[in-house]
Amino acid sequence: MRRILTVEHAGKSFESEGRRIPVLKDVSFSVSEGEMLGIVGLSGCGKSTLLSVVAGLIEPDTGTVSLSVGEGIPLSPTSPELYRYVQLVVQEPSEMFSPRMTIGEFLCEPLRSLGLRQEDRHLEELFASVGLDADLLSARPHMLSGGQLQRVVLARAFLSAPKLILYDEPTSALDVITQAQILELIRELRKKRPSAGIFVSHDLAAVQSVVDRILVMSEGCIVEELAPSELTRAKHPATRRLLDAQLTG
Ligand SMILES: Nc1ncnc2c1ncn2[C@@H]1O[C@H](COP(=O)(O)OP(=O)(O)OP(=O)(O)O)[C@@H](O)[C@H]1O
Ligand SMILES: [Mg+2]
Repeated sequence: MRRILTVEHAGKSFESEGRRIPVLKDVSFSVSEGEMLGIVGLSGCGKSTLLSVVAGLIEPDTGTVSLSVGEGIPLSPTSPELYRYVQLVVQEPSEMFSPRMTIGEFLCEPLRSLGLRQEDRHLEELFASVGLDADLLSARPHMLSGGQLQRVVLARAFLSAPKLILYDEPTSALDVITQAQILELIRELRKKRPSAGIFVSHDLAAVQSVVDRILVMSEGCIVEELAPSELTRAKHPATRRLLDAQLTG
């Protein structure tokens, strides 16, 4: 499979109380076209920072990130064109909405910024495919539940047919039943509209159910790579701690 994302020796530190705290230390990995990569690790190990680097929201201090979308020169995360190819889904969907926007306006925002327009009929079809009623297109975000908002965010992420979708704990703020529904929706959407993804979560069972391969992070480093079926046999102490926490908690 062709590589779509290549991260090589990425490093990032943040200033805190006059000291530089390294948050990413020499991180290298790649994602192939259509592949879903899982990243797990304890809170604070650098997962969201890594996704922000890939999304071009923060610049790494060292190393390179390149996206190869099959149109010649690889893109860097600072390329203005990146928006066309990479979409982000976050834990708290309400953070992504402006209260004044209707759901329909939110849905079309990325397309509009690309100078494209989506026909109403297609929007309604897409909306139906994420299990939402077309009436909600004219609603305001506060009228929707967290699960419904996450469905809208997913619909928007898939609408511009991105090459890579970054999921940062997309189910962590939801109740258990809604979590299962959102995971099922992600699996369905990926079948219909193939894209590569990076799926970050604390929930190991959720990760196992949607990804093709798992990287374990600890203190800013990738410490282990596993197939989903190998997770319970993981050897690294960081992975064992995660597993033990899930089994007891
Ligand atoms: N902009 C920033 N300035 C200073 N420190 C930061 C910044 N962003 C992240 N950090 C620090 O970097 C470390 C890693 O944070 P990050 O959010 O990447 O962890 P995470 O693995 O996503 O954790 P969680 O599972 O809780 O979401 C934390 O100690 C955090 O406080
Ligand atoms: Mg995080």
